[in-house]
Amino acid sequence: MMMIELIFLGYFLTCVCANGVADVVLSCSLVEEGAGLGGMGGGALFTRTPATLVLRDVAVAPDQSLETLTAFVPPSIPDPDAILLEATVSSPEIPNSDVLLHADCNDQEVMCEISSYTPRGSQESSDPAYFMVSLNVEGVDFSTALILQTLTVKKDQSTLIQNKLRLPLSQSGTILTEVIFLVFTHIKSVSAPLRGDVLLNCGFKQQEIPLAQEVGIEWRQQHRGKGRKVLEMKTGLDDAEGSTVVHAERMGSSMDAAQLVREGNASVTLTKLKVLDEGAYICTVSIGIFHAQQVIQLHIIQPPSVSLSEEKLVLKTKSPQTLSCHCTKYYPLDAQMEWSYLSPTDTEPTVFPDQGSLSSHRQHSDGTYSQSSHLTVPSSVSPGTKITCRVSHLALGEPLSVSVMVEAPEADSYWWILGFLVVTVIFFYQVMR
Ligand SMILES: *[C@@H]1O[C@H](CO)[C@@H](O)[C@H](O)[C@H]1NC(C)=O
Repeated sequence: MMMIELIFLGYFLTCVCANGVADVVLSCSLVEEGAGLGGMGGGALFTRTPATLVLRDVAVAPDQSLETLTAFVPPSIPDPDAILLEATVSSPEIPNSDVLLHADCNDQEVMCEISSYTPRGSQESSDPAYFMVSLNVEGVDFSTALILQTLTVKKDQSTLIQNKLRLPLSQSGTILTEVIFLVFTHIKSVSAPLRGDVLLNCGFKQQEIPLAQEVGIEWRQQHRGKGRKVLEMKTGLDDAEGSTVVHAERMGSSMDAAQLVREGNASVTLTKLKVLDEGAYICTVSIGIFHAQQVIQLHIIQPPSVSLSEEKLVLKTKSPQTLSCHCTKYYPLDAQMEWSYLSPTDTEPTVFPDQGSLSSHRQHSDGTYSQSSHLTVPSSVSPGTKITCRVSHLALGEPLSVSVMVEAPEADSYWWILGFLVVTVIFFYQVMR
């Protein structure tokens, strides 16, 4: 009954069990492909059933207070309708799993999806059974895919069978599993400058008893419906030398085979980034008959260079003057330009009610954009006024401003000097005659 409440509340509780470890109870969805329901549109339909995942022995950092954590109590009467998965996560440990302990207090939503997993080449409904669990914490760089393997349950007449999954339940009404393999990332989304380098983070862990002697990594890029392979690496897990096969399809992509073998670090480095490198990167780790993935988003950013068409603006009485603000070679597309003025008598700048006209975007061969804004300077502005073009762009931490001072028209003095000269010439002409 208690579990049912937990599911509907959408909360999870944690409990202390021993020194430095705790249990985490997550409300999840069991996702199944809706067999026989498809047809229209051809898209796969998924059904979602509420499920609960109990992660036992999650490592707690020593400085963390455990007093606020409450106990997880298994249901007193095992319910064959409830889907309650239990997994011990001490070996392999889930990296950064303390995020799961605090997500509740920090109001971060934990996305937890469970699905049946069929290892390559094996039959469905095999014994043991496997589950793929994908855990994602909103707003935090935590993402992990776990492969769970069911543990053998000693069956007798009193053993209950879970109604939906057809798996035997433990005494406490749970499906007992262990984590055998996991793939994770510390950074789900990363921004990097054009022509710069980036490290896309991906790692894996497996049980102490290795699942296979060889690991395969594949990095793929997916962008606007198109996909391409970036890099592929296969290497032996006992000795890296000699047995490593690398195939880099993107120039300037690399992985460290030694780090892969030693630490399970499957991160890829991309150098000399182009606009075309933007997109979702899928890191697939294969060990024996198992494989799991993580997706990392790469955004390319390049701040604009900003300049004004005039270094100084001298007021003319006749034709209105145009001032242009040029924003060049930035990425992504969105840049905002705003014109304002500060007259000598004001303390705060005022935004021009008429913001002039925007040129169309120009795209350069490297994928970056340029755009200009043209302001018609009203003849009413007084000398000493500062006109500013303020540019906001994703790649700029703070908006960038460029300004020009309005100067008094020279016209009066010019005519005065000219008049003076003419008078002088006439005067001398008269005198000399
Ligand atoms: C992999 O190694 C790099 C340093 O080379 C480090 O920054 C990154 O956090 C590591 N990633 C994982 C998943 O261990």
